[in-house]
Amino acid sequence: MIKKCLFPAAGYGTRFLPATKSMPKEMMPVVNKPLIEYGVEEAIQAGIDGMCIVTGRGKHSIMDHFDMNYELEHQIKGTNKEELLVDIRKIIDTANFTYIRQREMKGLGHAILTGRELVGDEPFAVVLADDLCVNKDQGVLAQMVALYKQFRCSIVAVQEVPEDETHKYGIVQGEMIKDGLYRVDDMVEKPEQGTAPSNLAIIGRYILTPDIFELIEQTEPGKGGEIQITDALLKQAKSGCVLAYKFKGKRFDCGSVEGYIEATNFCFENLYLKDKVTAELGKQTTQKES
Ligand code: G1P
Repeated sequence: MIKKCLFPAAGYGTRFLPATKSMPKEMMPVVNKPLIEYGVEEAIQAGIDGMCIVTGRGKHSIMDHFDMNYELEHQIKGTNKEELLVDIRKIIDTANFTYIRQREMKGLGHAILTGRELVGDEPFAVVLADDLCVNKDQGVLAQMVALYKQFRCSIVAVQEVPEDETHKYGIVQGEMIKDGLYRVDDMVEKPEQGTAPSNLAIIGRYILTPDIFELIEQTEPGKGGEIQITDALLKQAKSGCVLAYKFKGKRFDCGSVEGYIEATNFCFENLYLKDKVTAELGKQTTQKES
């Protein structure tokens, strides 16, 4: 039902300079995988196979990453290095990647509007790759797609944040309609300290119905002089319905150095090492069997 996922990936990643001077921030590795690959995996797990990437200048390596590299594959063929490419090969075989370039940085709303050509007239997901989300069973997007099937309206993922951090996020306020699910009646992009309507912060996962494009077109520049998706969503909430969903799982703000290091430590211990142990056990079982 949700077949496409939009990845706004044109930003500069200035908080990571100089690392991001010539490398896209989406390609920063968390352990051995670039950030954007985690997002793509999450989308695939949610049943999505169309990855629509909004890129900008200097972002070629994202395209190269989600493509074959025949020379490299030839070099490592038959060696134990081959298994390091198993996951990315699966992604390339499963998903279809399309790209469009955003010429000017005019905010998240503008980035999403730029992706309209790739998405078309259907509901779609949005992943901000620098919010890395992990959950043991069902990923955050899969949880949201399941909700979309039930409610058929735009959904934003939210988490509670301390009061002194509300100014960093889009903040929503709404009436709880069931455990962890709110019907939004107000939302503000990065409210000034002490003015937030709640402590429910939007994190980088959205399901949007296609009427959002028209609403973005009608949205004037807001916070920071940028066209904010939060403002367009507020219009949608007022005229129809937007839900806010307190997702199950952990989210790391990989747009900040602290969050990135936390994510790295977490993924090393909980994903990378565990995968290694499983692979090792698998090998031993196969050896025993043969
Ligand atoms: C964007 C959104 C904001 C949201 C945040 C989540 O802000 O505009 O509403 O809370 O992502 O990461 P950014 O962090 O890109 O400034």
